Amino acid sequence: MSRLEALRGDFATVQRMLRGMPRGTSHAEALSAFYAPQARHYDRFRERLLQGREALIERLPLADGARIVELGGGTGRNAEFFRSKLDRVESLTIVDVCAPLLAQARERALGIPQLRIVEADATTYQPDEPVDVVYFSYALTMIPDWRAAIANAVAMLKPGGVLGVVDFHVSERRVPDGFAQHGALTRAFWPIWFRHDGVRVSSQHFPELRRLLPDHAFVEARAGVPYLPFGRVPYYVFVGRKPAMRRRLSSREKYSQRLSR
Ligand SMILES: C[S@@+](CC[C@H](N)C(=O)[O-])C[C@H]1O[C@@H](n2cnc3c(N)ncnc32)[C@H](O)[C@@H]1O
Repeated sequence: MSRLEALRGDFATVQRMLRGMPRGTSHAEALSAFYAPQARHYDRFRERLLQGREALIERLPLADGARIVELGGGTGRNAEFFRSKLDRVESLTIVDVCAPLLAQARERALGIPQLRIVEADATTYQPDEPVDVVYFSYALTMIPDWRAAIANAVAMLKPGGVLGVVDFHVSERRVPDGFAQHGALTRAFWPIWFRHDGVRVSSQHFPELRRLLPDHAFVEARAGVPYLPFGRVPYYVFVGRKPAMRRRLSSREKYSQRLSR
Protein backbone atom coordinates (compact mmCIF):
# COMPACT_ATOMS: atom_id res chain seq x y z
CA MET A 1 0.00 0.00 0.00
CA SER A 2 1.36 3.43 -0.95
CA ARG A 3 1.82 6.20 1.64
CA LEU A 4 -1.02 8.16 0.05
CA GLU A 5 -3.40 5.17 0.25
CA ALA A 6 -2.38 4.62 3.90
CA LEU A 7 -3.11 8.27 4.69
CA ARG A 8 -6.50 8.03 2.94
CA GLY A 9 -7.26 4.94 5.00
CA ASP A 10 -6.29 6.72 8.21
CA PHE A 11 -8.48 9.67 7.19
CA ALA A 12 -11.54 7.41 6.61
CA THR A 13 -10.92 5.67 9.94
CA VAL A 14 -10.42 8.85 11.96
CA GLN A 15 -13.46 10.45 10.27
CA ARG A 16 -15.64 7.46 11.27
CA MET A 17 -14.20 7.54 14.80
CA LEU A 18 -14.96 11.26 15.12
CA ARG A 19 -18.58 10.59 14.13
CA GLY A 20 -18.72 7.96 16.86
CA MET A 21 -20.72 4.77 17.34
CA PRO A 22 -24.19 5.07 15.73
CA ARG A 23 -27.13 5.04 18.17
CA GLY A 24 -30.68 3.80 18.00
CA THR A 25 -29.99 0.44 16.33
CA SER A 26 -29.12 -3.00 17.66
CA HIS A 27 -25.60 -3.56 19.00
CA ALA A 28 -24.64 -5.69 15.96
CA GLU A 29 -26.04 -3.12 13.50
CA ALA A 30 -24.27 -0.26 15.26
CA LEU A 31 -20.95 -2.15 15.15
CA SER A 32 -21.41 -2.99 11.49
CA ALA A 33 -22.21 0.63 10.56
CA PHE A 34 -19.24 1.83 12.63
CA TYR A 35 -16.70 -0.63 11.24
CA ALA A 36 -17.88 -0.96 7.60
CA PRO A 37 -15.98 2.14 6.31
CA GLN A 38 -12.87 1.17 8.33
CA ALA A 39 -12.83 -2.60 7.76
CA ARG A 40 -10.14 -2.64 5.04
CA HIS A 41 -7.89 -0.34 7.07
CA TYR A 42 -8.72 -1.85 10.46
CA ASP A 43 -5.60 -4.01 10.91
CA ARG A 44 -3.10 -1.34 9.88
CA PHE A 45 -4.64 1.44 12.00
CA ARG A 46 -5.26 -0.74 15.09
CA GLU A 47 -1.65 -2.02 14.94
CA ARG A 48 -0.62 1.28 16.53
CA LEU A 49 -3.55 1.49 18.95
CA LEU A 50 -4.12 -2.02 20.30
CA GLN A 51 -0.88 -2.82 22.10
CA GLY A 52 -0.15 -6.01 24.07
CA ARG A 53 -2.04 -8.35 21.73
CA GLU A 54 1.08 -10.26 20.69
CA ALA A 55 2.17 -10.42 24.36
CA LEU A 56 -1.18 -11.99 25.26
CA ILE A 57 -0.97 -14.62 22.50
CA GLU A 58 2.61 -15.47 23.55
CA ARG A 59 1.43 -16.08 27.12
CA LEU A 60 -1.37 -18.49 26.19
CA PRO A 61 -0.37 -22.09 26.95
CA LEU A 62 -1.06 -24.18 23.84
CA ALA A 63 -1.05 -27.96 24.02
CA ASP A 64 -0.94 -29.94 20.78
CA GLY A 65 -4.45 -30.25 19.36
CA ALA A 66 -5.75 -27.34 21.46
CA ARG A 67 -9.10 -25.76 20.62
CA ILE A 68 -9.06 -21.98 20.97
CA VAL A 69 -11.83 -19.37 20.76
CA GLU A 70 -11.41 -15.61 20.35
CA LEU A 71 -14.57 -13.77 21.42
CA GLY A 72 -14.97 -10.45 19.60
CA GLY A 73 -12.21 -11.53 17.20
CA GLY A 74 -12.98 -8.98 14.43
CA THR A 75 -10.76 -9.42 11.37
CA GLY A 76 -8.88 -12.36 12.90
CA ARG A 77 -5.66 -10.31 13.03
CA ASN A 78 -4.57 -12.04 16.22
CA ALA A 79 -4.39 -15.40 14.41
CA GLU A 80 -1.16 -14.17 12.85
CA PHE A 81 0.46 -13.57 16.23
CA PHE A 82 0.34 -17.35 16.85
CA ARG A 83 2.70 -17.85 13.90
CA SER A 84 3.83 -21.49 13.48
CA LYS A 85 2.18 -22.48 16.79
CA LEU A 86 -1.12 -22.53 14.91
CA ASP A 87 0.09 -25.60 12.97
CA ARG A 88 -0.16 -27.62 16.20
CA VAL A 89 -3.64 -26.55 17.29
CA GLU A 90 -6.89 -28.09 16.13
CA SER A 91 -8.83 -24.88 15.68
CA LEU A 92 -8.95 -21.16 16.35
CA THR A 93 -12.55 -19.95 16.18
CA ILE A 94 -13.17 -16.23 15.68
CA VAL A 95 -16.55 -15.18 17.06
CA ASP A 96 -17.98 -11.72 16.33
CA VAL A 97 -21.26 -9.95 15.58
CA CYS A 98 -19.78 -7.44 13.11
CA ALA A 99 -20.31 -8.64 9.53
CA PRO A 100 -17.83 -6.23 7.79
CA LEU A 101 -14.95 -7.27 10.09
CA LEU A 102 -15.87 -10.95 9.75
CA ALA A 103 -15.67 -10.55 5.96
CA GLN A 104 -11.99 -9.61 6.43
CA ALA A 105 -11.56 -12.59 8.77
CA ARG A 106 -13.03 -14.93 6.14
CA GLU A 107 -10.45 -13.70 3.62
CA ARG A 108 -7.71 -14.33 6.17
CA ALA A 109 -9.06 -17.84 6.86
CA LEU A 110 -8.40 -18.79 3.22
CA GLY A 111 -4.69 -18.91 4.12
CA ILE A 112 -5.01 -20.39 7.64
CA PRO A 113 -6.79 -23.77 7.67
CA GLN A 114 -7.25 -23.83 11.47
CA LEU A 115 -9.21 -20.57 11.41
CA ARG A 116 -13.00 -20.86 11.74
CA ILE A 117 -15.29 -17.87 11.56
CA VAL A 118 -18.58 -17.68 13.43
CA GLU A 119 -21.07 -14.79 13.40
CA ALA A 120 -22.46 -14.88 16.94
CA ASP A 121 -22.69 -12.91 20.15
CA ALA A 122 -19.88 -13.33 22.68
CA THR A 123 -22.37 -13.39 25.54
CA THR A 124 -24.25 -16.45 24.23
CA TYR A 125 -22.08 -18.38 21.73
CA GLN A 126 -21.08 -21.84 22.93
CA PRO A 127 -18.88 -24.29 20.99
CA ASP A 128 -19.94 -27.93 20.50
CA GLU A 129 -17.46 -29.10 23.13
CA PRO A 130 -15.49 -27.34 25.89
CA VAL A 131 -12.30 -25.65 24.69
CA ASP A 132 -8.75 -25.24 26.04
CA VAL A 133 -8.28 -21.49 25.63
CA VAL A 134 -10.63 -18.51 25.25
CA TYR A 135 -9.45 -14.94 24.89
CA PHE A 136 -10.76 -11.40 24.44
CA SER A 137 -8.52 -8.87 22.71
CA TYR A 138 -9.86 -5.33 23.14
CA ALA A 139 -13.38 -6.76 22.95
CA LEU A 140 -14.58 -6.73 26.58
CA THR A 141 -14.67 -2.92 26.55
CA MET A 142 -16.97 -3.04 23.51
CA ILE A 143 -19.41 -5.61 24.91
CA PRO A 144 -22.16 -3.87 26.91
CA ASP A 145 -22.89 -6.94 29.06
CA TRP A 146 -19.23 -7.73 29.74
CA ARG A 147 -20.04 -9.76 32.86
CA ALA A 148 -22.18 -12.12 30.75
CA ALA A 149 -19.35 -12.36 28.18
CA ILE A 150 -16.81 -13.33 30.86
CA ALA A 151 -19.22 -15.85 32.42
CA ASN A 152 -19.88 -17.31 28.97
CA ALA A 153 -16.14 -17.55 28.25
CA VAL A 154 -15.43 -19.35 31.54
CA ALA A 155 -18.40 -21.68 30.92
CA MET A 156 -17.00 -22.81 27.55
CA LEU A 157 -13.57 -23.66 29.04
CA LYS A 158 -12.59 -27.16 30.09
CA PRO A 159 -11.68 -27.45 33.78
CA GLY A 160 -8.06 -26.20 33.94
CA GLY A 161 -8.55 -24.22 30.69
CA VAL A 162 -7.20 -20.71 30.25
CA LEU A 163 -8.90 -17.33 29.78
CA GLY A 164 -6.77 -14.51 28.34
CA VAL A 165 -7.70 -10.82 28.14
CA VAL A 166 -5.92 -7.75 26.82
CA ASP A 167 -7.77 -4.44 27.01
CA PHE A 168 -7.76 -0.81 28.04
CA HIS A 169 -8.65 -0.03 31.62
CA VAL A 170 -8.32 2.52 34.38
CA SER A 171 -7.64 1.65 37.98
CA GLU A 172 -10.07 1.94 40.85
CA ARG A 173 -9.61 4.94 43.14
CA ARG A 174 -7.54 2.84 45.52
CA VAL A 175 -5.78 -0.34 44.42
CA PRO A 176 -3.93 -2.98 46.44
CA ASP A 177 -0.11 -2.94 46.51
CA GLY A 178 1.43 -4.31 43.34
CA PHE A 179 -1.14 -2.73 40.99
CA ALA A 180 -0.86 0.46 38.93
CA GLN A 181 -2.63 3.35 40.64
CA HIS A 182 -3.96 5.85 38.09
CA GLY A 183 -4.47 9.51 38.97
CA ALA A 184 -7.87 11.23 38.90
CA LEU A 185 -7.26 12.77 35.46
CA THR A 186 -6.38 9.40 33.89
CA ARG A 187 -9.42 7.76 35.51
CA ALA A 188 -11.72 10.47 34.19
CA PHE A 189 -10.18 11.17 30.76
CA TRP A 190 -9.86 7.77 29.05
CA PRO A 191 -13.44 6.54 29.68
CA ILE A 192 -14.75 9.83 28.22
CA TRP A 193 -12.33 9.79 25.28
CA PHE A 194 -13.24 6.26 24.15
CA ARG A 195 -16.96 6.25 25.06
CA HIS A 196 -17.84 8.16 21.86
CA ASP A 197 -16.63 5.14 19.85
CA GLY A 198 -18.52 2.59 21.93
CA VAL A 199 -15.48 1.60 24.00
CA ARG A 200 -16.30 1.49 27.72
CA VAL A 201 -12.97 1.81 29.49
CA SER A 202 -13.72 0.51 32.98
CA SER A 203 -12.12 0.05 36.38
CA GLN A 204 -14.25 -3.05 36.99
CA HIS A 205 -13.18 -5.61 34.36
CA PHE A 206 -9.68 -6.29 35.65
CA PRO A 207 -10.63 -6.76 39.36
CA GLU A 208 -13.56 -8.97 38.34
CA LEU A 209 -11.28 -11.22 36.25
CA ARG A 210 -8.83 -11.53 39.15
CA ARG A 211 -11.66 -12.36 41.54
CA LEU A 212 -13.21 -14.98 39.24
CA LEU A 213 -9.92 -16.72 38.38
CA PRO A 214 -7.59 -16.49 41.40
CA ASP A 215 -4.91 -18.59 39.62
CA HIS A 216 -3.68 -15.87 37.26
CA ALA A 217 -0.79 -13.70 36.02
CA PHE A 218 -0.97 -10.20 34.56
CA VAL A 219 0.98 -7.18 33.38
CA GLU A 220 -0.12 -3.54 33.26
CA ALA A 221 1.34 -1.02 30.80
CA ARG A 222 0.49 2.09 28.77
CA ALA A 223 0.33 2.77 25.04
CA GLY A 224 0.35 5.83 22.80
CA VAL A 225 -2.75 6.70 20.76
CA PRO A 226 -2.40 7.51 17.01
CA TYR A 227 -2.83 11.22 16.24
CA LEU A 228 -3.11 12.07 19.95
CA PRO A 229 0.17 13.76 20.87
CA PHE A 230 -0.35 13.67 24.64
CA GLY A 231 -1.27 10.97 27.12
CA ARG A 232 -0.76 7.22 27.09
CA VAL A 233 -3.73 4.95 27.68
CA PRO A 234 -3.40 2.19 30.31
CA TYR A 235 -4.00 -1.44 29.35
CA TYR A 236 -3.59 -4.82 30.98
CA VAL A 237 -2.77 -8.35 29.86
CA PHE A 238 -4.41 -11.05 31.98
CA VAL A 239 -4.10 -14.84 31.83
CA GLY A 240 -6.14 -16.87 34.32
CA ARG A 241 -6.82 -20.57 34.75
CA LYS A 242 -10.25 -22.04 35.40
CA PRO A 243 -10.07 -24.30 38.45
CA ALA A 244 -9.58 -27.98 37.59
CA MET A 245 -12.57 -30.09 38.56
CA ARG A 246 -12.29 -31.60 42.04
CA ARG A 247 -12.29 -35.38 41.78
CA ARG A 248 -15.20 -37.03 43.59
CA LEU A 249 -13.86 -39.18 46.41
CA SER A 250 -14.84 -42.84 46.56
CA SER A 251 -16.67 -43.94 49.73
CA ARG A 252 -13.51 -45.82 50.83
CA GLU A 253 -11.46 -42.56 50.46
CA LYS A 254 -14.12 -40.59 52.37
CA TYR A 255 -14.07 -43.23 55.12
CA SER A 256 -10.27 -43.16 55.50
CA GLN A 257 -10.34 -39.32 55.46
CA ARG A 258 -12.84 -39.39 58.36
CA LEU A 259 -10.67 -41.88 60.28
CA SER A 260 -7.56 -39.70 59.88
CA ARG A 261 -9.28 -36.59 61.35
C1 LIG B 1 -11.72 -3.27 19.13
S1 LIG B 1 -12.38 -4.61 18.25
C2 LIG B 1 -11.14 -5.86 18.56
C3 LIG B 1 -11.07 -6.89 17.47
C4 LIG B 1 -9.97 -7.94 17.64
N1 LIG B 1 -10.20 -8.70 18.81
C5 LIG B 1 -8.61 -7.31 17.64
O1 LIG B 1 -7.86 -7.47 18.61
O2 LIG B 1 -8.25 -6.70 16.61
C6 LIG B 1 -13.72 -5.16 19.27
C7 LIG B 1 -14.50 -6.28 18.62
O3 LIG B 1 -15.51 -6.74 19.51
C8 LIG B 1 -16.64 -7.07 18.72
N2 LIG B 1 -17.83 -7.16 19.57
C9 LIG B 1 -18.42 -6.17 20.28
N3 LIG B 1 -19.51 -6.66 20.94
C10 LIG B 1 -19.59 -7.99 20.63
C11 LIG B 1 -20.48 -9.02 21.03
N4 LIG B 1 -21.51 -8.80 21.85
N5 LIG B 1 -20.25 -10.26 20.53
C12 LIG B 1 -19.22 -10.49 19.69
N6 LIG B 1 -18.34 -9.54 19.30
C13 LIG B 1 -18.52 -8.31 19.77
C14 LIG B 1 -16.68 -5.96 17.69
O4 LIG B 1 -17.49 -6.25 16.59
C15 LIG B 1 -15.20 -5.85 17.35
O5 LIG B 1 -14.86 -6.73 16.32
